[in-house]
Amino acid sequence: ASIDQFIAALPKVELHVHLEGSMQPPLLLALAEKHAVAGFSRSLREIREWYEYRDFPHFLDVYRRAVEVLRDEEDFAALAFDTARNLAAQNVRYAEVHFSLSDHLLRDIPAPVVFAGIEHGRKRAERESGIRIRWIPDFAGDYGAEAGERTLDAVLAHGPQTVLGFGVGGLEVERDQFREVFARARAAGLHSLPHAGETRGPDRVWSAIRALGAERIGHGIGSVADAELIAHLRDTQLPVDVSPTSNLRTGAVRALTQESSGAPWQSRGTEHPLPWMLEEGLLVTLNSDDPPMFGTDLNGEYRAAHRMGLDRAALTRLARNGVRASFLPERDKTALL
Ligand code: ADE
Ligand code: ZN
Repeated sequence: ASIDQFIAALPKVELHVHLEGSMQPPLLLALAEKHAVAGFSRSLREIREWYEYRDFPHFLDVYRRAVEVLRDEEDFAALAFDTARNLAAQNVRYAEVHFSLSDHLLRDIPAPVVFAGIEHGRKRAERESGIRIRWIPDFAGDYGAEAGERTLDAVLAHGPQTVLGFGVGGLEVERDQFREVFARARAAGLHSLPHAGETRGPDRVWSAIRALGAERIGHGIGSVADAELIAHLRDTQLPVDVSPTSNLRTGAVRALTQESSGAPWQSRGTEHPLPWMLEEGLLVTLNSDDPPMFGTDLNGEYRAAHRMGLDRAALTRLARNGVRASFLPERDKTALL
């Protein structure tokens, strides 16, 4: 089989993908028209151009504009259904999906509308394709700790059983300020799933671990600048959810190919450290983050990893790491391993 066929047939899980960032351009345009959102008389070609980013803050601006087309329960249902179906079509059996609850609350969309919509779409997709979806509501760190508290309040008041964790994304501000909100989330039985080390360095990852009790690290590539942190991640096998194309398209790295040898802290910000992180024995998983916004999907990330020098055995290892790092019940993990 060709490498593309091999990747497509590989049973996979997806542990780091954003619901809103999974909105395909046709749905984006349809919802913009439905709600007459200003500034959206865009063609598919214009959307592709709109999805070219100068840097990470520019990406976030575009993401937040796109999120505004989501208004009612049917919109969220359509997005959840479409997202789950696209994952299932790539032989993804299970996904833990982030969604930007703080953005919706700040736009005065009631949490019950969001939860009812995404649950509706999830159930229909699970019935029709057999995929299983669990939810990770998150807030944007740059909205502040108070926004995090209000987001968690909404989750605890209205969240369904299918919510399994709590996250923080957005601009990568200092993490210690979120200690209390994550303590409260964890006390309520939610897993701690922050972004850290996406565009910033090891200090963000250390505080995600020490202050937030992170159970996986979203991105984490900034860890490579600190040998002690790498040793810690290896010793504890704390999973790191990596998304190469996302890092390339937001400017977090300049290239995906590994042209130089040697430790990546010497070339930080240039080449993607995924192959090195695997060689160092970290529990790395491979994920798509915001697939259409980065012109990729999960199979595309496996193809990118292959172009970065990872052979079929390494790709299989990445897929199995995903199963191990997931919050699937143990018996379901065994069935997928
Ligand atoms: N929200 C959507 N995608 C994100 C990312 N890659 N990092 C932080 N926040 C996000
Ligand atoms: Zn993310």
